[in-house]
Amino acid sequence: MVAYKSKVVERIHLPSRARRERALEEAGYNVFNLASEEVFIDLLTDSGTGAMSDAQWAALVRGDESYAGSRSFDELEAAVEAVMGFSNVVPTHQGRGAENVLYGSLLSDGDVVLNNTHFDTTRAHVANQGAEPVDCPVESAHDPTADEPFKGNFSLESAWAVVDDVGAERVPVVIQTVTNNSAAGQPVSVENTRDVAAFADEIDATFVIDACRFAENAAFVARREAEFADTEIDHIAREQLGYADALVMSGKKDGLVNAGGFVATDDDALFEQCKQRAILYEGFPTYGGMAGRDVAAMAAGLREAVEEAYVTDRIEQVRRLATMLEDAGVPIYTPAGGHAVYLDAGTALSHLPPEAFPGQAMVCALYQEGGVRGVELGSFAFPDTDRPELVRLAIPRRTYHTEHVEHVVETAVAVLEESESIPGLELVSEPEMPEIRHFTAELEPL
Ligand code: F0G
Repeated sequence: MVAYKSKVVERIHLPSRARRERALEEAGYNVFNLASEEVFIDLLTDSGTGAMSDAQWAALVRGDESYAGSRSFDELEAAVEAVMGFSNVVPTHQGRGAENVLYGSLLSDGDVVLNNTHFDTTRAHVANQGAEPVDCPVESAHDPTADEPFKGNFSLESAWAVVDDVGAERVPVVIQTVTNNSAAGQPVSVENTRDVAAFADEIDATFVIDACRFAENAAFVARREAEFADTEIDHIAREQLGYADALVMSGKKDGLVNAGGFVATDDDALFEQCKQRAILYEGFPTYGGMAGRDVAAMAAGLREAVEEAYVTDRIEQVRRLATMLEDAGVPIYTPAGGHAVYLDAGTALSHLPPEAFPGQAMVCALYQEGGVRGVELGSFAFPDTDRPELVRLAIPRRTYHTEHVEHVVETAVAVLEESESIPGLELVSEPEMPEIRHFTAELEPL
């Protein structure tokens, strides 16, 4: 059942094919270099790209811009307590700000950090503290066709193998990312969260949940975990998050805002440490690098994110795109995750070897064909790793309608029909840091 109607609209245009071809060439075959006006349907990310509700726009106007003691901060504290169950909150400018504040407080040189899968910025912040990030996904996580309900889960077997190898004293932090963005947005079961909490407790580590997409995760738990079949989304979210010692949150996802983030914890000593670090890097602890109005909008957004009607509308739209693509024969990662559909470019463009970047070739073809912007998550973004060649089509929240979804499907089908004639790509320039080359590197068709 549709849950929204539009109150403000933004005009969009599909540039001519000739213009798209020229724009792509000028962008060095890297869609991060495209101007947004050149893009018709923008599925680059679900982060900060969603539409706010009328209640959130109203909250913006009422935002309290006081440097200290802002009423908007009180609203955020109350929302985090009600929705996530944590009483101490340190606001930050976005998720990576929260990562800097929290991991800078918890980690030091030589530590090892375990995570179901580190998102890029998490990996970078762990490494920035001199610690080593180690991924512990379950085996099916990188299998685009395994039919399992919780492919985002954290593998305790892998985690114990690391602990046996390096010693528990070197592992002060264990993270669970819900949903697991770097494993196709797959959900994590509450049972797995309980097991990871017990594991962290046993090795005396702080258990952190990266809660960016906690509401989407709760929706999958309600649908797939028998114990929670009759439980409300907000109860599931509070229970799952409640096993953690601390949360890192990007409000740009399930906070339903365009900017913002925070750390939350019930540990008073850790809270004090985070506050001090936040003053250094983010701002005074009642605004944390955000405008007061953005804090107010995030407080409202968090409450909306766990409304059944919102979250059903959200994951059903993603599922619909996935089903339509599958029905049309486009190879995708299954089951679909919460925020995006991942195309299996390795299968769709099987004539291209990984060195010719099949994922990036598909990203370019989608743009050329229909002005659709996705993002490559394969051998271009992750050099020297053994990941499937995926293209992520991330869906901004409450933004696109069924006609947009249909256009994306028609575009993908047209790309698939001409797939054998799609050329591979080669790098012509890349920045010094290979981990982030996909944001700025330039390529050329072979
Ligand atoms: N953790 C996860 C799991 C994320 O997906 C992101 C961002 C962050 C942390 C960092 O949050 O962007 O607010 O600083 N993911 C975006 C994406 C960028 O496109 O997947 P941020």
